[in-house]
Amino acid sequence: MDKLSRRNAFRMGGALGAFGALAVVAPARAEPWTWSPQGSVAGSGPGADPMTVWDAEADPIVAALLDRGEVPRVNDLLRTWTRNGQPLPPGLPTELRDFMEYARQLPPWADQGKLATAIEFNEKRGLYLGVLYGLASGMMSTVIPREARAVYYSKGGANMKDRISKTAKLGYDIGTANAYAPDGEMIVTCVKTRLVHAAVRHLLPQSPHWAHAAEEDIPISQNDMMVTWHSLPTTVMQKLTGWRVPIPAAESAAFLHTWQLCAHMLGIRDEYIPASWDEANSQARQVLDPVLAPTPEGVKLADILLNLGAQLDLAILSKPILGAFTRFLLGDKIADSLYIAREPVWDPLLNVSWGPFIAVREGLLPVVPLASETYWLFDEFLRRAALLYLSELRPTISIEIPQSNRPR
Ligand code: HEM
Repeated sequence: MDKLSRRNAFRMGGALGAFGALAVVAPARAEPWTWSPQGSVAGSGPGADPMTVWDAEADPIVAALLDRGEVPRVNDLLRTWTRNGQPLPPGLPTELRDFMEYARQLPPWADQGKLATAIEFNEKRGLYLGVLYGLASGMMSTVIPREARAVYYSKGGANMKDRISKTAKLGYDIGTANAYAPDGEMIVTCVKTRLVHAAVRHLLPQSPHWAHAAEEDIPISQNDMMVTWHSLPTTVMQKLTGWRVPIPAAESAAFLHTWQLCAHMLGIRDEYIPASWDEANSQARQVLDPVLAPTPEGVKLADILLNLGAQLDLAILSKPILGAFTRFLLGDKIADSLYIAREPVWDPLLNVSWGPFIAVREGLLPVVPLASETYWLFDEFLRRAALLYLSELRPTISIEIPQSNRPR
């Protein structure tokens, strides 16, 4: 565990003990799958429960690469593949090359007009997006039990800073003006991530630790993918709407479109990708909301995440402030379950002043109803957090296919 203080380590040990005793099990999904493919970008489909579907196209190819010991060579080759329009490097195993040529194609429903509008949205809302991806989506991932366990017991779980920076790359790439264009990087990031997920499906079941803790036999089903997807765009849009940030309908639809494409490029079937925000919200109510629950693994991951800002020596991103913001975004129930301390100054300040701060920032309030220090503090927080998430944590190393699980 990175830089956990003795006190925290002790507290975590206690938490783990308590979890073991209570054997907390979050529902995988409370209800049977009823979300209709008619609400998807495909508009139709067999409607199979996505909990029983993985990635039949990528999984066997990557499993075979792992079994044949070809992953180091493939990673070496793919390190040079960084731009969407770049030809694949020569020398890749034929099956893999054929799959990647297929997987890198945008679907016929990709809409260049919407992608152009998304540029405006991302430019205007970049600051909020940085904070929300990092603290709303990022912290939420620690209370999605299946994701927390998969992340914790996979190779990347042993080095969370590195892992977060790789994930942040996707959040950065999707917001760039040329995200899906030939000179952009989002398609490459998605296709590589699809390969990583396929590798994790093959590797994690071999981990005795994961097998012991998990409730499923194979991780990262299509259902899990959608759960995590909702922790990203659906949650972010819910927060922006809740903060009353004015967003023109076309920009809101464009932002959704960038994420629909991302879902497709990650190998999620079109029949599960919501066609509208209404459909997204209805699917999230079914798959995301009921599963949010703490796990021992998630508690440890959350603690590591909250310490990241402090490691960068930025007072405004200290653990107490990040914790207070997490509580503000995700609520007391989740914050308490993650052992996030209450902050007597920051908690009430955020509850009372964040709304007016946004209103002033957005030019919706003519007079400033809050102290200028508070305004400055919040503004600085936004800037620093966005910078941390979208810039300082951006990796110089590429997303690579893992060959093993987390060593104990
Ligand atoms: C890896 C994004 C869903 C578990 C990654 C990476 C990205 C990413 C960018 C590469 C970074 C790295 O190699 O560390 C996403 C997105 C998702 C999604 C955008 C959904 C829309 C999931 C789900 C799970 C999961 C549902 C588990 C239930 C993992 C694991 C790794 C990974 C274990 C590999 C870490 C390692 O190398 O050990 N994901 N992911 N992901 N993801 Fe996901």
